[in-house]
Amino acid sequence: MDSEIIGQEDWGELQKNLEATIPVYDKINHFATLGQVSRWRKIVRKKLPDEGLILEIGCGPGSFAEDVRGRDLVCLDPIPEMLRIAKIRVDDKREKRGDSRAKFIQGTAEDLPFEDNLFDTVCTLFSFRDWYDKRKGLSEVRRVLKPGGTLIIVDPAKMNYFHGFLGHFWMKYWVGTYARIVCKQKEHPWKWLTKTYINFGTTKKYTKMLIEEGFESVSGKVIFPGMATIWAGKSPELENS
Ligand SMILES: C[S@@+](CC[C@H](N)C(=O)[O-])C[C@H]1O[C@@H](n2cnc3c(N)ncnc32)[C@H](O)[C@@H]1O
Repeated sequence: MDSEIIGQEDWGELQKNLEATIPVYDKINHFATLGQVSRWRKIVRKKLPDEGLILEIGCGPGSFAEDVRGRDLVCLDPIPEMLRIAKIRVDDKREKRGDSRAKFIQGTAEDLPFEDNLFDTVCTLFSFRDWYDKRKGLSEVRRVLKPGGTLIIVDPAKMNYFHGFLGHFWMKYWVGTYARIVCKQKEHPWKWLTKTYINFGTTKKYTKMLIEEGFESVSGKVIFPGMATIWAGKSPELENS
């Protein structure tokens, strides 16, 4: 596992562990981020265009998707159980609000099951670090985004080696201890989240990667209190011929 590629064996193990987090996912996430995760999700929702088709890659159990209001939404995840839970949760809220049902599709970022130039915005929250081939995933995102469409990524912030060290400490001891108590098991699935955190690169690394993969107007902003980054980039507009 490194900052760009996760081998198939490790990725398979990671997916099993992610599935095992489902019953306690929101509870532990809330604790791990001192409640900030809801605020970060709100920031992303505010960045969504008023109209158009939105894709969330790695929707998990629907924690972000359930509050995407008034927009057409497609949720993608490789884990069928995540999609099953997300569908119940997201469509229930959408129905109550009078929004059309969302679509739930099984697949991975690296091999998106969609035609070219389909989406106005693609977002991915706390999933990019789990992608097994980050460059391949980004090139797929570019393919399915309409020209001028936006990609938004939220994942951990690592400003430098020291910040990464503090984050590792936080994940391993603060989150790890709580997860062990909540999951009532020593070998709890959140250990894999520490592992992906350790192997995740710096905020700057992925800002550079987005530019290298052809995104424009790229930004990578560390958000308060320094635990997360919001990256954004645009798919190039078509040149006038
Ligand atoms: C931690 S959950 C994130 C859930 C949700 N987006 C949120 O806001 O909390 C990460 C999700 O990314 C998915 N994932 C992992 N590897 C992926 C890949 N290569 N392509 C797409 N999704 C992936 C996992 O199955 C998991 O459901």
